[in-house]
Amino acid sequence: MFNKKTIDDINVKGKRVLVRCDFNVPLKDGAITDDTRITSSLPTIKKLIADGGKVILCSHLGKPKGEPLPEMSLAPVAKRLSELLGKEVVFAKDDKVVGPGVKAAVEAMKEGDVVLLENTRYRAEETKNGEEFSKELASLADVFVNDAFGSAHRAHSSTTGVASFVDTVASGYLMKKEIDFLGNAVENPKRPFAAVLGGSKVSSKISVIDNLLDKVDILIIGGGMAYTFVKAQGGSIGKSLLEDDYLDYCKKMFEKAKAKNVKLLIPVDTVVAKEFSNEVPNHVVKVDAIPDDEMGLDIGPETIKLYIDAIKDAKTILWNGPMGVFEMSNYEKGTKDLAQAMADLDAITIIGGGDSAAAVKQFKLEDKMTHISTGGGASLEFLGGEELPGLAAIQDV
Ligand code: 3PG
Repeated sequence: MFNKKTIDDINVKGKRVLVRCDFNVPLKDGAITDDTRITSSLPTIKKLIADGGKVILCSHLGKPKGEPLPEMSLAPVAKRLSELLGKEVVFAKDDKVVGPGVKAAVEAMKEGDVVLLENTRYRAEETKNGEEFSKELASLADVFVNDAFGSAHRAHSSTTGVASFVDTVASGYLMKKEIDFLGNAVENPKRPFAAVLGGSKVSSKISVIDNLLDKVDILIIGGGMAYTFVKAQGGSIGKSLLEDDYLDYCKKMFEKAKAKNVKLLIPVDTVVAKEFSNEVPNHVVKVDAIPDDEMGLDIGPETIKLYIDAIKDAKTILWNGPMGVFEMSNYEKGTKDLAQAMADLDAITIIGGGDSAAAVKQFKLEDKMTHISTGGGASLEFLGGEELPGLAAIQDV
């Protein structure tokens, strides 16, 4: 149950509403290559405009580390947002983010106007949750709305600090939607509930694996991190990715799965090559007998069959992390076939952000999934059972 105030619970007419969005979008040569995070923010922005708020948007982009780097300016976002809203979005260009010019622009706003501030990370205080910068942001607003789910795991000035200096703090629709989908999947799943976890590192998913073993019926492991699990069971993994420090952890997870009666699946075969490259020959071997001079780069055909069969009766499937190096065509099959199988199922399918969201988009299956999260790190921390500071700072209903 989402127990935070939302923009449906507050009155914004004539008020200055500072909205933290996650407009951290990928750019190539100054052009936005994926505007999902912008389109996902539209319902909140449109609602605030319709309700007569003076809408002041802010976000970070990239990691400029306190420097006003032009290639990380939010100017392209203002342009795209204007197109999507069909109205002017005033870009408050200011290397200090909240300077006198910005204050004047906000003063001049009328009901329904939209202003976008410059990249909050142009200020070094942002990522340190500096009080002065938090107060400066708060001075622009009567109400603070946090809709930046993708940044909710960061305790920064614009995600949490500012909330202490504004009387009304509410959630936007995207934040609520993300928490509803991810929270319901984990706390109140239609069963059988399967989680598919991949990606390169066990270390980035320790709390997720541990937490999900308390919740799921089936846990499927793929991607680079699978080889540490294979090694923990005594397999030979050649030059595959290995996190030695996590072998004991993997052993514990096998024991936990057994104790909890969870079906924990790891690959049985794998596509290997001598180099991390799409240009060298590859072949399939048993996952626990990888030659010393080769590395696993995708799950093999037997594993694909095993995994598709394991999820076929699931009613909720949560997926985070690719099964192989899907960015290279020779090693995309595991991720692609599993994504396709999920897309074809009559089940609630939830895709964690980051690489798995990118994979689903690459295979053009995004319309076939129930929910694709806009948060990579944020969804991982949430699924790991950790508190998200950005969410915690929103007032309860
Ligand atoms: C993301 O892309 O995951 C969010 O925008 C957070 O970005 P960050 O990892 O740079 O804080």
